[in-house]
Amino acid sequence: MMAMAHPKLALRPMLPADVPLLREIFRDSVEDLTADDYTEAQQEAWASVADDEKEFGKKLAGELTLVATLEGSPVGFAALEGKDKIDMLYVHPAAAGQGVGAMLIDALEKLAGSRGAAKLTVDASDSARGFFEKRGYVAQQRNSVAVGDEWLANTTLHKQLDQSLAAKREAS
Ligand code: ACO
Repeated sequence: MMAMAHPKLALRPMLPADVPLLREIFRDSVEDLTADDYTEAQQEAWASVADDEKEFGKKLAGELTLVATLEGSPVGFAALEGKDKIDMLYVHPAAAGQGVGAMLIDALEKLAGSRGAAKLTVDASDSARGFFEKRGYVAQQRNSVAVGDEWLANTTLHKQLDQSLAAKREAS
């Protein structure tokens, strides 16, 4: 139903040709949407994770990566690692606040459920923590992660998926 909220918004699996644009979305998202929570040096270290296009493309292709498009153009992406870890969620600043992140996470939750996951885990940035809490994820612990020469804080959150699946099985 979230998908109907914005008729021009759609999802599809990542294609190899998307990698250059997804790198730009990643960098612009980190630079413009995380300044309240991280220093410029931390943002730079974070954004430079995508500097090596080949490595970044390999990482995305090795996970279940979905691309959100607005009128056909990529505006965000999310990646599921294995069956139960949300590894990445990035929305372009120009498209933020329009339900793109919510649509991507709704889809990953369904895919994780169909892979047999009972719960989903995410190490959320301080900028995204509120987004995940609003969607029912519960904070477990704070972490400090080395990225290049910087230390970045994040929070591990969990969401149980089994109840909704059980409810669906009962209803069918
Ligand atoms: N705190 C509280 N609520 C939030 C936040 C926040 N930081 N961000 C969004 N929300 C709310 C919105 O108000 C909205 O509420 P509503 O449904 O009542 O209207 C709801 O969450 C859905 O928001 P969307 O519009 O779907 O979110 P958006 O498309 O803007 O994407 C995201 C959110 C992905 C966090 C985006 O802001 C972003 O890319 N941030 C920078 C990069 C980042 O930190 N990514 C996560 C890194 S951690 C990881 O990848 C695992």
